[in-house]
Amino acid sequence: MAQNWTPNSWRQKPIQQVPDFPDLAALNATEAQLTTYPPLVFAGEARRLKSQLANVSEGKGFLLQGGDCAESFAEHGADTIRDFFRAFLQMAVVLTFGAQQPVVKVGRIAGQFAKPRSSNIEKQGDVELPSYRGDIINGIEFNEKARIPDPERQIMAYRQSAATLNLLRAFAMGGYANLENVHQWMLGFVKDSPQAERYRKLADRISETMDFMKAIGITSENHPSLRETDFFTSHEALLLGYEQALTRVDSTSGDWYATSGHMIWIGDRTRQPDHAHIEYCRGIKNPLGLKCGPSLTGDGLIELIDLLNPQNEAGRLTLICRFGHDKVAEHLPRLIRAVEKEGRKVVWSCDPMHGNTITLNNYKTRPFERILSEVESFFQIHRAEGTHPGGIHIEMTGNDVTECTGGARALSGADLADRYHTHCDPRLNADQALELAFLLAERMKGGRDEKRMVVNG
Ligand code: TRP
Ligand code: MN
Repeated sequence: MAQNWTPNSWRQKPIQQVPDFPDLAALNATEAQLTTYPPLVFAGEARRLKSQLANVSEGKGFLLQGGDCAESFAEHGADTIRDFFRAFLQMAVVLTFGAQQPVVKVGRIAGQFAKPRSSNIEKQGDVELPSYRGDIINGIEFNEKARIPDPERQIMAYRQSAATLNLLRAFAMGGYANLENVHQWMLGFVKDSPQAERYRKLADRISETMDFMKAIGITSENHPSLRETDFFTSHEALLLGYEQALTRVDSTSGDWYATSGHMIWIGDRTRQPDHAHIEYCRGIKNPLGLKCGPSLTGDGLIELIDLLNPQNEAGRLTLICRFGHDKVAEHLPRLIRAVEKEGRKVVWSCDPMHGNTITLNNYKTRPFERILSEVESFFQIHRAEGTHPGGIHIEMTGNDVTECTGGARALSGADLADRYHTHCDPRLNADQALELAFLLAERMKGGRDEKRMVVNG
């Protein structure tokens, strides 16, 4: 077990991004109540995710992690969850085919409520109010009452997470995730896409593979793995009082686990080695993510890895790199070289969202081309360094929103106003998310063909 660590040892450390709760007695009461509630996930599931991520770190899999920037209470409904899952699974099929490797499926969902902010206050006209910090803390409406941090919201977030997870488990295991269904949805997407011609080649090859499997008698009736899938949850472990209340000892191993989700990550703004968020995360056994932005040095990264994964366990740590399409070439190589030099086992994942945010017509947006470009550079850099580009981390929704520009339907700055619904950062809509998967799958296949040509002379 981690030395001198307890679920509350983070309270002795400096901390960033804490809300100003006006009523500390109410906050304590809420946290005490949460400690009596059932865990949302089970330690054995977190270990299963860790072993799948260990395969990814060895170059034998690909991580797909995605979901809302911030989940909201207002959009909590079966349709939103279903539509997200539907888009996500289609991406997973396309990427599995592209990579010719298992895809580890991790949602930013069922707990992704707390947001770090660049400023403590938001100013509109002459009015200044505390910033919105996610539905688990305060309300998004721009009025004084909504912006007061309210502990009761943690109970709401817990219950919403439980209900979301319940539906996702049912979808994943109850037949909805059947590969044959997902394949049919994918064909529907291709047929309606303005880029149908381009995507059809890959879609046809998936269809042929499905037909071939059927011909030799591999069907979802006799192979449960075709109708079921492992789906895991993740969120940023930002609100540590909430996380602590859901931190439990696993009776099988005697280890501490965060039971708020299978995987949790540490944000780029809260990764100071001697601060509270690193302290909390080092003591729990779940797979961890660490967001890596431009200010991280090679030595800084190794120092964090020493704290978070001292035993160098494969699958424990995923480095989620978020530099920006024009900065990735400058910053990623030094991190890769530091990790390789020290022989550390990590999953390399690319978050092409957070370094590519711009303002257009007063909307925060992200151009699809820049998102694609950052992932492509990420792949190329790993190929050049001889390391495995192990995954992507994206903000997406299953709905037809207009938050990121570009894509096959060429959303423009003027379109943003139509359906701009996000509670925080702009997300890829369902079509844009699937297009990204198709374009990446093409590249992955291209990379394999190149290797084969080298081998075969
Ligand atoms: N169980 C396999 C997997 O999860 C195959 C599979 C079933 C699948 N349904 C799926 C793959 C939906 C992707 C999406 O990989
Ligand atoms: Mn975000």
